Amino acid sequence: MKKIMILSGAGLSAESGIKTFRDHDGLWENYNVMEVCSTQGWIADHKKVTKFYNERRRDLEFKEPNRAHKVLCQLEKEYRGRVIHLTQNIDNLMEKAGSKDIIHLHGTLTDLRCEACTEVFDIGYAPQDGSEKCPSCGNKRLRHNVVMFGEAAPEYSNIHQAIRESTLFIAIGTSGNVIDIVSIAKEFKHSILIDPKRQLIESAFNQDNYIDDYFEHFIQKKAGESMDEMMKIVEEHMKD
Ligand code: APR
Repeated sequence: MKKIMILSGAGLSAESGIKTFRDHDGLWENYNVMEVCSTQGWIADHKKVTKFYNERRRDLEFKEPNRAHKVLCQLEKEYRGRVIHLTQNIDNLMEKAGSKDIIHLHGTLTDLRCEACTEVFDIGYAPQDGSEKCPSCGNKRLRHNVVMFGEAAPEYSNIHQAIRESTLFIAIGTSGNVIDIVSIAKEFKHSILIDPKRQLIESAFNQDNYIDDYFEHFIQKKAGESMDEMMKIVEEHMKD
């Protein structure tokens, strides 16, 4: 059975006004990633990390899904059970667009996690201010439900399963700095890369290999502008 694996990143939500991480003026240009998004940063300064995620949660409240979120939701509905969309994004814009099956590999911004019983619960767009209690065990040792550098990412097991089950791979708006989209693309005969920027593969040995060299199709456009072209390729692939 033909199945589609989608791996999305911050670029998917860029047109909704959410900053990416590594682009010009991206989040990691304005924050020290190891201070606000790593285990050692969390151990060193809970307040600073909590403040960082409170600000991102507040910023998310009035952001709306863009055309790419909506088309990917349609795709999920049209081919129910045959689309595995794994996102590195912690925003809720796919859910806001109506997605039921989206899998968050790096956690969810609008949830907190209990450090005592691991319960995950919704906090909406509210800032975490220390007054919260775990609805399951009553503990107050709570933190943002986001996977930080140096931490395990339990949902990554979905990546290998998706590669095994799928016949078409689509990478949207991810630089591949954290999840290596080139090695995934090598597992597929059919693949689409969507990114307005053409990127050289960063490795000591590589002089002039581009990420898109490993993809069947490269749509060098913003996510929202690339959907018609992507859907043509998808419908052709899913035809028989
Ligand atoms: N449409 C599509 N792609 C876009 C757009 C857009 N409108 N704008 C930017 N991009 C592309 C950029 O060219 C870049 O390749 O999106 C990519 C964003 O890359 P990163 O900022 O590195 O984000 P991402 O790949 O999602 O980061 C992975 O790193 O910091 C951690 O946990 C964080 O989940 C994140 C992970």
